[in-house]
Amino acid sequence: MTETVQQREAAPEENPLLEGLLVRRTPDPCVFVIFGASGDLTQRKLMPAIYSLAYRRLLPENFAVLGAARTEESDDDFRTRMERAVREHARDPFRDDVWQPLAEGMRYVALDFADERGEDNVADVLRELDEQRGTEGNRVYYFAVPPSAIATLVQELGKRRTADGWVRLVIEKPFGRDLTSAREINEQVHEHFTEQEIFRIDHYLGKETVQNMLALRFSNGIFEPIWNRQFVDHVQVTVAESIGIENRAGYYEQAGAIRDIFQNHLLQLLALTAMEPPIDFTSEQVRNEKVKVLRSLHTPGPKSVVRGQYGRGFVEGEEVPGYREEPGVAAESMTETYVAAKLYVDNWRWADTPFYVRMGKRLARRETTIAIQFKSAPHPPFEESAVEGLRPNVLVVHVQPDEGVSLSIGAKVPGAGMQIRSVNMDFLYGGAFRTGLPEAYERLILDALLGDQTLFTRTDEVEEQWSLVDAIVAAWQRDRPAFPNYTAGTWGPPSADDLIHRDGRSWRRH
Ligand code: BG6
Repeated sequence: MTETVQQREAAPEENPLLEGLLVRRTPDPCVFVIFGASGDLTQRKLMPAIYSLAYRRLLPENFAVLGAARTEESDDDFRTRMERAVREHARDPFRDDVWQPLAEGMRYVALDFADERGEDNVADVLRELDEQRGTEGNRVYYFAVPPSAIATLVQELGKRRTADGWVRLVIEKPFGRDLTSAREINEQVHEHFTEQEIFRIDHYLGKETVQNMLALRFSNGIFEPIWNRQFVDHVQVTVAESIGIENRAGYYEQAGAIRDIFQNHLLQLLALTAMEPPIDFTSEQVRNEKVKVLRSLHTPGPKSVVRGQYGRGFVEGEEVPGYREEPGVAAESMTETYVAAKLYVDNWRWADTPFYVRMGKRLARRETTIAIQFKSAPHPPFEESAVEGLRPNVLVVHVQPDEGVSLSIGAKVPGAGMQIRSVNMDFLYGGAFRTGLPEAYERLILDALLGDQTLFTRTDEVEEQWSLVDAIVAAWQRDRPAFPNYTAGTWGPPSADDLIHRDGRSWRRH
């Protein structure tokens, strides 16, 4: 691996200082193989991210992309489809001089994942690419396929493994659908590949603002001493989406909010918030600390978990159908589109401090936040009427949108007398840094190319996440809530309010 600092030529409209210098290594030459290349993810996220990396000259010089999927398609058609995807979804303007060299190294293979001959074709094209593009036998295999396709693919790749170059597998969620199936996949993969070669992706970890939780906590001396049960009253994590299921009924009916968001993104946000400081920023140390949090999560009782499903309503001024009216969804579907829960991290730092979490589709607006609510001042010496407008201090990490951090503090209202009100101190990414935020997939693809696993989920993390989900889902078999129980465009079912009101607290106002 080249260890030199490469000062890359800045692309127009970019801030050269921030964009290029932050990356200290250049990935080795390699072929990026996408299984599931005809899918939505490839068009909306993967190819635009690869383009943006090329735009910033962060890809190796010797690089190629091989798309593989069931659909028959020529190399040229694949290139044209990818160009369209980039023009439509990339965050950077389309430039021919960036696209052409990338497109020249693009190939496509139609592949039935269950048929070995398909794999032979892939292997042949990979050899050709090595010769033409100098990719030296190095491969990143990206699995944008359902869990059922993983076993055969992994076996076939394992059989064809040669001693040339390195191999990395990037595996998309869902990683199984429960603990048993996740373990099975882990075993199948481990038969042929080591844990160091496996990159389980959770794209939330690629978000700048999520990584900023680590920066905020571990680069500032002032937060760590108060980041515990003595000072924190409770934590709220919200992953709210205004979108519905976007023609993904086949997947979502099987997953529901608990497997789609709670099992992965939500639990990772919680782990980053609650973890102990790692001794260094290596992948093993960071993941060791996260897995300890996941292991300390107490299984919530049935009263501490609420699920919901949206009925029709208005979202951002537009009338939208109820979940059961979405194309492909069963008329009596009991799939949840909303989950709220009260969780406890049973360890020395957090014992008895509730973590209220909620996530849902078709909520009033898109918002992902982590809010740390501190305890009230012990003895404010003011008259009661003076502090009516004062709320306890809250530190909010705005993951998206309006990326940033805010801290609410009490301040004197100007004028005679003493009136105190809560005001916000805000840090906004857009204002503080003169550069756009990269897409999560850019960061994660680059890390996979570099072999850095820090922002990928390890076997034991995934298994802990599933253990908790399995326990919650098992309790759900016993009752049938009256779905739909919230109107699209609201903040979820009334029972979610009851969940937190019972403790004399409320969800953060929006
Ligand atoms: C995906 C889920 O993992 O995350 C989707 O499958 C969800 O249902 C998406 O919409 C949300 O991602 P983001 O980055 O838009 O918050």
